[in-house]
Parts: sequence; C-alpha cells; structure tokens
Amino acid sequence: MSVFRTISLDSLRAGAARTGLKKTLGAVDLIMLGVGMIIGTGIFVFTGVVAAKYAGPGIVISLVLSALTCAFAALCYAEMAAAVPIAGSAYTYSYAMLGEIFAWLVGWCLVLEYSLGASAVAAGWSAYVTGIFKSAGIQLPVAFTAVPADGGIVNLPAVFIALFISALLVRGTKESTNLNRILVVVKLAAVFLFLVLAGPKVNPANWSPLLPFGISGVLTGAATMFLAYIGFDCVATAAEECKNPNRDLPIGIIGSLVICTVLYIAVAGVLTGVVPYQELNNAEPVAFALRSIGYNIGSALVGTGAIAGITTVLIAVMYGQSRILFAISRDGLIPAGICRVHPTYGTPYIVTLGAGIAVSLASGFLPINVIAELTNIGTLFAFLMTAVGVLALRYRHPDLPRSFKCPAVYFVAPAAIVSCGYLMYCLPGDTWQRFSIWVALGLIVYLAYGYRKSKLNKEQAKSAKRVA
Ligand code: ALA
Repeated sequence: MSVFRTISLDSLRAGAARTGLKKTLGAVDLIMLGVGMIIGTGIFVFTGVVAAKYAGPGIVISLVLSALTCAFAALCYAEMAAAVPIAGSAYTYSYAMLGEIFAWLVGWCLVLEYSLGASAVAAGWSAYVTGIFKSAGIQLPVAFTAVPADGGIVNLPAVFIALFISALLVRGTKESTNLNRILVVVKLAAVFLFLVLAGPKVNPANWSPLLPFGISGVLTGAATMFLAYIGFDCVATAAEECKNPNRDLPIGIIGSLVICTVLYIAVAGVLTGVVPYQELNNAEPVAFALRSIGYNIGSALVGTGAIAGITTVLIAVMYGQSRILFAISRDGLIPAGICRVHPTYGTPYIVTLGAGIAVSLASGFLPINVIAELTNIGTLFAFLMTAVGVLALRYRHPDLPRSFKCPAVYFVAPAAIVSCGYLMYCLPGDTWQRFSIWVALGLIVYLAYGYRKSKLNKEQAKSAKRVA
C-alpha cells in the first residue's frame, strides 16, 4: 500500500545537497547546541515541582530512569544520524525506513514536541523573570504574567521571548550559535554556583524517606521529568548545517546527553538535600532553595543564570522546530512554499516566524504542566519510532557505511522501545486523550493533503506512467 512507501537514501542525500543551508557547525557547536537545549526548564523548574508532587527525594531515581531511556534512544539516534545525516531527524529516518505514513505521524509528533516544548520553556523563562522582579520588590501584575487557568489573562513575558527568539533565528544560524555559546557558559556557571553554595549545606535527613510516594511516584516522576532530557535529538536536526556530520553528530548527541545527565542528578540530589521536598513546589525552586539557606545574592545570580540558560533552550528548540517543518515541507507533505530560504540570511524564514507565533500563543495561554506532559508523550513516541527505525536500518541496509553503529543494537533498540513505551503508559489519561486527538488530526491532514501532494507520490506516479 502506498501509505507505506519509503523514500530512498540516495534521493534524500540528493535533496539535502540542493537545499542551500549553510554548513557552519562543528562538533563543539553541536555539543553546545545539545547542552544548550537539554539544561533548562527541566532542571530549573521541574526538579522542584516533580519532587514535591510525585517523587520526593526519589526524584534522583526518576532522573536515572529517564536518563536510561534517553541513553537507549540516543544511541539509536546517533546511528541513524550517522547513516542519514539529513535535517528532520526521527521524521526523516522513519521516511527512509518505515514508510510515509509513519514518517508523517512522527513528524506530526515532533511538531508537537518542539512547539509545546518551546512553549513550556518560554513559560519557565517567564516564571524566573517574574521571580527576579519579585526579589527586587516589584510585583508584576498577575493578569499579564499568568495564563487564564492560573488566574491571569495572558503570560506576556513568555509571548515576548518566543517572538524575540524567532526573529533572532531568522537572522542566521551562526549568529544564534555564537549567542548560544555565551549563554551555555553562563548557564553552566549558574549550575556550578548552585552546587558549590548549596552542596555543603545538604542535610541527609531531608533525603528520608527516600520514596514518600512509592515506586509509582518515582515512575510518574520519570515520565513527567522526561522534558528535562529533550534536546539531544535537536542536534540531529542540524545535520545539514554540519561541516562533518558523520563524525560530529554522534559526538554531539552522546556528549551532550552524558554531560547533562551528570549535572541533573547532582542538582536534584542537592536540591532535595537542602530543602524538604514538600517545600519545592514553586516556579523557581533552585533560586528558592538558595534563599532558604541564606544566600540571597547567590540566589539572584543563579536566577539570572537560569534565565540565560532557559533562553539557550528556547533558541535550540525553536531552531529544531523550524528545521523539522522545513524537512516535512521539502517532501511535499505540507505546502512547499513555507520552506523558502531567505536570500540574504540563508535560513527558512517563513517556517521560523510562523512557528514562533504558534509557540508564543501556546505559552501565552496554556498551563505549563499540560504543555509539558503533551510534549513528553509526543517525544517518547518519536524516540520509540527511531528505535524501530534503527532495527529496520540494520535489516534493510546492513552494509551502508556509517561512522557510528549502536553497540549491542538488538538489546539497546528493544530496550528503547520498551522504556519509551512504558514512560508513555505512565502519563495521565488526560494527556493520552489530548495526544489521541492530535494524532487523529494528523491522520486527517495526511489523508486530505500529504498523501496526494507528497513528492514521493508524484515521482512514483510519473515513473508508473513511463512504464505504462
Ligand atoms: N530539556 C529542555 C529543558 O529542560 C527542554 O528545558
């Protein structure tokens, strides 16, 4: 059946060669892009919320479980990225390995991941900015800093930052990666400052009981915390802008994941060690923990670093989002006009700006927990499909040259499939309902538009005519 038609690796490579995206990124840029995207709202906001609501000090175990899931998926991603170094990541891999309808669904879920992920991050940015104003004695009006579900009208700081970053991204990848490098360094400094100040004040009594909500709390915590690890996949979306993708993509993906996992576990351990977990349910838990042990200036510094850090995440997520849409439109599954590259800046400016507007609307009006859980379910689905894709790659193209091969693939890929599936299962029923609506909508769009308009469909129709 033609919904399962696959795109050939050769035509993918040829298509990529024609796009005109500038090749400016090296391995360090990719690690910076990965760290830039991974450490953000997850560490600075969700660690506190998840510890207080679901996992208690056992959040450290939740983080290890999420990290393991990510590590399995990252190894599959790295092999796919080395074999198919094309913008679009899991979407493109599925197109080449599993068939058009799966690719479309994965792409549709990635759009959900990136749009809502960016919105959650913009909301976290707004929480820290509002917190900094509050520490300086200025109370910003709730009506313009909270979404309707939280008693406000619109979250204006979140709307502002989403629009600002999309304008920046239109200016070009190099400019944004330079700013990204500076902000990543500031963010890492903030994390280390927190560890140095708060580490010696840990009171081990706060870690007891370790699992106040039992194992089920730890598992829900792992599924909710998953947002914290989202980001390494963004490295893969930069494939066409890399100078040496086959070597640098695996380094970027795995390197950034390892660095961030170590930092996450350290921060969560220290956070729950200095403050009883019940007190951590607030929008800026890291700054709050420092204030509560008497470091007011340290708290303001870390809060400022967190804002810088969260900004880098937005740059990386919104960058990834425009590249995913770019890849989908190039294949004709959404209108091709929107992937036009700007003549001066060399960036896909229409999708970048359109996506920026969508992100600002979601972050301005939807509650952060709803956004985060929906982001997680979409992402887990895309990761799961990448693991299926790598098995298909091994089966269909065993000899295709690639600089990185997933070790123990027949263990790692099934482990990624099972762990992603299990974390999806741990997410609440409401999230499943919203996800099902999104998927159903995606199928309607595909059947009404993409199925007929896809480039692959047109090519196949042409060659069928020639044969006839
Ligand atoms: N991993 C990113 C964050 O935590 C999305 O903000």
